[in-house]
Amino acid sequence: MEGHIKITLLFCSFICNIFVTLQRINIKRQTTMKKIIIAIDGFSSCGKSTMAKALARNIGYLYFDSGAMYRAVALYCMQNGLIDGDSIDTDALRARLKDIHIAFKADPETRNSITYLNGTNVEHEIRSLEVSRYVSPVAALDFVREEMVEQQRELGKEKGIVMDGRDIGTTVFPEAEMKVFVTASAEVRAQRRYDELTARGDAPDYKEILENVQLRDHIDQTRETSPLKKADDALLLDNSNLTREQQMDWLIETYNKIVSEC
Ligand code: DC
Repeated sequence: MEGHIKITLLFCSFICNIFVTLQRINIKRQTTMKKIIIAIDGFSSCGKSTMAKALARNIGYLYFDSGAMYRAVALYCMQNGLIDGDSIDTDALRARLKDIHIAFKADPETRNSITYLNGTNVEHEIRSLEVSRYVSPVAALDFVREEMVEQQRELGKEKGIVMDGRDIGTTVFPEAEMKVFVTASAEVRAQRRYDELTARGDAPDYKEILENVQLRDHIDQTRETSPLKKADDALLLDNSNLTREQQMDWLIETYNKIVSEC
């Protein structure tokens, strides 16, 4: 009887593997046929970047994290004395904006995207809670956004990209063929951020993180320039109760459907 169950399970796993392989072959074939822009927007810490990165890897697209660009600008301000308490020296930042060069390079081992600020790898630093605290007010400055949006459009010139952020589907690429707006409850997002920081060796405070998530939601949704909002033609994805696998299945299915209709 036990042997029977084992054989059935092996058979099911064999069929599943064939199905996944066929799905991947199908994706590869479509990738050579037509390249599109995939815009993934949504609230902070709802797993957009992890999801966008994994999607890009699966379909052979380039991945760009637009939030990392705003974080790099905030870090530049912190490193150069342009932030004092809650106030940003906007005149100085405006004058020095053209001196801020942000680039992405792929890690040769993990193939993950690494953010460079003026030639220095800042991938780790830009994820700190301190940068998270200052990034929303920096990202709310219209002249900072104009410059970042210009650079983001440049990155998407050849299509075949997945870019995540807050205004990718509404402002940066309003013509993107696939738009997804991701959301999850503030508590779920704070817990995920807490786990992420703990995993990298920090000793975070959950309450502080939750407050930071709520504050960033408020600033992102109420700022004057490009507030965070779902584009009318974006698909809504609430991932509060979804596993990564369920989410990826949905994304790939959606991508396949859109590409086949293009
Ligand atoms: O996705 P993130 O948490 O790394 O983003 C950091 C900050 O940058 C966040 O406050 C929202 C802002 N941001 C933005 O205003 N527009 C984007 N396209 C991406 C991020």
